[in-house]
Amino acid sequence: MGVLLGVFLIVFVLLIVGLILSQLFWRKRLKNIQGQHVVITGGSSGIGKSFAILAAKNGANVTIIARDIKKLETAKNEIQHSCQNKDKQKIEYLSLDVASSFENIEKSFNELEKNSGPIFMLVNCAGKAIGGKIEDSKIDDVKFMWNLNFLGTYQCIKAVVPRMKNSRDGIIIITSSMAAFSGVFGLSAYSSTKFALRGLAESLKMELNPYNIFVTMALPPDTDTPGFAIEEATKPLETKLISDSCGTFSPDVVANQMLEDSLAGKFFSTVGMEGFLLGFLCAGMSPVCSIGQVILEFLLMGFCRIIGACYLATFNNTIKKCMKTRDQNKKCE
Ligand SMILES: *[C@@H]1O[C@H](CO)[C@@H](O)[C@H](O)[C@H]1NC(C)=O
Ligand SMILES: *[C@@H]1O[C@H](CO)[C@@H](O)[C@H](O)[C@H]1NC(C)=O
Repeated sequence: MGVLLGVFLIVFVLLIVGLILSQLFWRKRLKNIQGQHVVITGGSSGIGKSFAILAAKNGANVTIIARDIKKLETAKNEIQHSCQNKDKQKIEYLSLDVASSFENIEKSFNELEKNSGPIFMLVNCAGKAIGGKIEDSKIDDVKFMWNLNFLGTYQCIKAVVPRMKNSRDGIIIITSSMAAFSGVFGLSAYSSTKFALRGLAESLKMELNPYNIFVTMALPPDTDTPGFAIEEATKPLETKLISDSCGTFSPDVVANQMLEDSLAGKFFSTVGMEGFLLGFLCAGMSPVCSIGQVILEFLLMGFCRIIGACYLATFNNTIKKCMKTRDQNKKCE
């Protein structure tokens, strides 16, 4: 009896470890971007630029979209150097504000498809983070983030979906944030725009599944980009201490994960331990991509909740400590 139980336990543990390893490392590429047209918003810097370079390395025709022409030109040169075959690949840029009117965006995308071929993959990386406690925030900043992060993504997808549906093929990546798994002190406005993107991604996944269009939602942690440097400057101390607990990743690592996950048709794309655990904890009614994933979620969700509670308790402590220090400083003044 004891032996049987032992064998059962060993098999059970091996099964969980095997499933975790397969979720972490095994990605079957179901689609391929070789020779296809890949369009990346926010493609002149940060995660967007890293993704564009990676797409060029994988043989794709790449168009990057951003506002600043100088930055676009510099980035285009860099991307061109990464091409597999410079004669067969077309690298272009388009200066466009994705938060401008939808008519403008639709017109620009129509022209782009006429000149550079139908869009196979749309990667939405355009976005900004401005931190601050709610009482310190500027409503103009909130509107700016809403228009860029949410509306910008929504409009670009709306512009490409009709043709993707016609061709019964395509990939859409929506770049959200770890701050869409859990609200964070000092990121109330930013986090709200990223939560909204999750609603968008889940709805689209359901709408576009029958048309063989993959939808992937990337939830990167802090990433070492020019945008992140600006974000850091606006973050309250509490926000810094909390987000530091997840570490900072390079944009190349994040972009690589996004490409592998999107080609494999995965819904969540995360990097790092915390991202992996939050993926299980927050799976809820999110789309199912494989049986292995569901079994693992079934087995791990409760356990992840306990770990999550421990994280929340340390965040609580951090916030309390910061508040105490502030009160003491005020008394000293
Ligand atoms: C990619 O660019 C090459 C070179 O300009 C072109 O021949 C090819 O048709 C393009 N592919 C797509 C899918 O537009
Ligand atoms: C965090 O603190 C609040 C009150 O300050 C408390 O209600 C809550 O249970 C705490 N959460 C955790 C996870 O400790």
